[in-house]
Amino acid sequence: MKVLIIGNGGREHAIAWKLNQSPLVSKIYCCPGNAGTAQIGENIRVDCNVIEDIADFVEQNKVELTIVGAEAYLAQGAVDYFQMRGLNVYGPTQAAAGLESSKSWAKEFMFKYHIPTAHSQTFSHPEAAKDYIRQTGVPIVIKADGLAAGKGVVVAFELETALKAIDDCMVAQIYGEAGTTVIVEEYLEGEEVSLLAFSDGYLAVPMLPVQDHKRIGDGDTGPNTGGMGTYAPTTAFTAAIKEKVVNEILIPTIQGMKNEGTPFVGTLFIGLMLTSDGPKVVEYNVRFGDPETQVVLPLLESDLAQIFIDCVSGKLNPDSIKWKMGKTAVCVVAASGGYPGKYQTGEPIDGLEEIRNSLVFHAGTKFNFNGDIVTAGGRVLNVVHLGNNIGAAIDGAYRDLALLSFEGMYYRKDIGRRELLRSGV
Ligand code: AMP
Ligand code: GLY
Repeated sequence: MKVLIIGNGGREHAIAWKLNQSPLVSKIYCCPGNAGTAQIGENIRVDCNVIEDIADFVEQNKVELTIVGAEAYLAQGAVDYFQMRGLNVYGPTQAAAGLESSKSWAKEFMFKYHIPTAHSQTFSHPEAAKDYIRQTGVPIVIKADGLAAGKGVVVAFELETALKAIDDCMVAQIYGEAGTTVIVEEYLEGEEVSLLAFSDGYLAVPMLPVQDHKRIGDGDTGPNTGGMGTYAPTTAFTAAIKEKVVNEILIPTIQGMKNEGTPFVGTLFIGLMLTSDGPKVVEYNVRFGDPETQVVLPLLESDLAQIFIDCVSGKLNPDSIKWKMGKTAVCVVAASGGYPGKYQTGEPIDGLEEIRNSLVFHAGTKFNFNGDIVTAGGRVLNVVHLGNNIGAAIDGAYRDLALLSFEGMYYRKDIGRRELLRSGV
């Protein structure tokens, strides 16, 4: 079977790498892909912003399954369009993608189905939002309603920060349309866990629990990023917590979506806060996480292509999904200096061929005119190491990361440290 993956991040490289191990897969295309996916499959020469052109390619080249990696395509209805043309596609429809593309809709959904989440109010007038914030006080969380490339959330510990966030979002409109409506939300305290699940619309099977490191700086300081590193599984997510999350969050979400007439097919990503009052939903995403995928898929024992086929055909079999037990994976992201602000691109990357004991998933990379691999984005490379415990996985990832270099390369030094402190090895 020929497959096509839409997207160009480390997540898409990890999906391509895993699908490449499947005996069911004969050829992998990526659109637009990166220098990493080009070494596994073929990055196609199609304008990947034009979904009609991708569908034309899929038809002409008899691609049997398309996987949509990035949320923007899902929110625009890429899956609906492929389905309309009779093409097999893994991912939620535009309506089901509303769980991520409209935080206010997601909040109403959770309220309706009694899914635990932070208390919140939705506002479309800045003065009303500010009055509410003054009454409630800090800490408080302000979120743009729509998609803002992971940047639309401000966790405010000072009243001025909260009020400024409202002005930035609703008056200056720094996120454009996405911020004309805001959600003002109760601040939740606890360990954050990313739980991804495969779903065929009827049932969902959770993957291994992951902890992301969202802030740019060591010790969780500085601005939010797309994610600077991950590890899985996390022992913060105990068997008791898992049971609660499955029964109180995952199953009600999948059943609720079915009940709404918008069944969720694809990867559901639940951002959780493990509070003293039980696990609560911080956000839903409707696709694989990045860099969560880079640690989850190397721990998956089963055939990913078969799982995708089963989800798309509504026949997901929970017993068919197996994990590598006793292994821990750590992913450290190497980013361009200046990210998540301004950064240089086009810097040559050295040392890739020296890495033998870790996986390297590319994100912002490309081949330049000389055929050299150069930087092409904020997050550039993901070094992933599997170890028998968290300590071994951390050491292995950092040992191999030290072999890589490009001008301005930046990475966090403390990925996995919380887990190391918790588990002691
Ligand atoms: P989101 O884009 O919704 O994932 O939010 C970005 C980050 O902001 C999350 O990963 C959390 O670390 C933080 N955050 C979001 N909502 C809350 C909340 N209600 N309480 C505390 N932190 C939050
Ligand atoms: N790492 C968080 C995300 O993919 O949204």
